[in-house]
Amino acid sequence: MLFSTLGLSCFWCHNLEFKGRDIVSIEDFIQTEINHILDVAKSMEPLAKGGSELLKGKILATLFFEPSTRTRLSFESAMLKLGGNVIGFAEPDASSTRKGENLADTVRTVENYADVIALRHSLEGSAKLAAEFSKVPIINAGTGSEEHPTQALIDLYTMRKESGKIDGLKVALVGDLRYGRTVHSLAYALALYSVELYLVSPETLRMRKDVLATIKSKIPVTENANLEKIMPQIDVLYVTRIQKERFPDAAEYAKVKGAYRIDLKTIEKAKKDLIILHPLPRVDEIAPEVDNTPQARYFQQVWNGIVVRMALLSLVLGAVE
Ligand code: CP
Repeated sequence: MLFSTLGLSCFWCHNLEFKGRDIVSIEDFIQTEINHILDVAKSMEPLAKGGSELLKGKILATLFFEPSTRTRLSFESAMLKLGGNVIGFAEPDASSTRKGENLADTVRTVENYADVIALRHSLEGSAKLAAEFSKVPIINAGTGSEEHPTQALIDLYTMRKESGKIDGLKVALVGDLRYGRTVHSLAYALALYSVELYLVSPETLRMRKDVLATIKSKIPVTENANLEKIMPQIDVLYVTRIQKERFPDAAEYAKVKGAYRIDLKTIEKAKKDLIILHPLPRVDEIAPEVDNTPQARYFQQVWNGIVVRMALLSLVLGAVE
């Protein structure tokens, strides 16, 4: 048990069980568990810079059926920084899926080669299905438009690190709230805290009804908010890309393409300590001129992906309690 060597407090950790656990949905977690993951992530900062042998001998399989830069590479980097090894594929055509093998059989094969699997898939419910068949922990690395729970943990970690807290924040989610999976997981996660949420999107890209129903029962949510009006009040501006690849037809995408863009004028009346986040990749929804403002934190968010994923791998593999 490496808890004390990492300098973590163990006041209530005996009630928390992460070893062998799947990370499928952020809805599977209570606030205490999320806070613990964020604490462990913080303890990973020096290890991310200096390296470690915490997961020596362990193998991560990254099964990515959809494109990724950050999630796949940061999972792989996290494992390598912890002294473990990585196998996997970055596109379905590089696997036997091409020959007709289904996901259940793929997972029942790869569990023989790896101690933990990070899975990205276009189908909603695929991480849940994989977890039902796998003997090793499944980490959902993004499922269709459904969820991206590890990104939500990164987003929370960034808010806590950059704003010093999560409770009390006023957060605006801007952009594609319908097809964007990160905002679904993040909304579920924020609903576990005392947060006020503002939803800003084109009419056809409003937040999914199932997500809305859950979060509105827990926290104040303002739908269809006017960004200009709320700008002077908000603490976090979370911007997302329009998910072109998820639209059923090109004409629908064309109607909303370029519907919003954050530039220097947009944030003119923002609080000085506003933070601007984006899960990335970005297309044109944040102007490059914003990158050099003190509010822009989306590239710090990328670094935080490493420590949060180091924490998750260490927890589910039982190297940290
Ligand atoms: N944030 C995120 O999921 O990025 P990638 O699609 O590059 O993994």
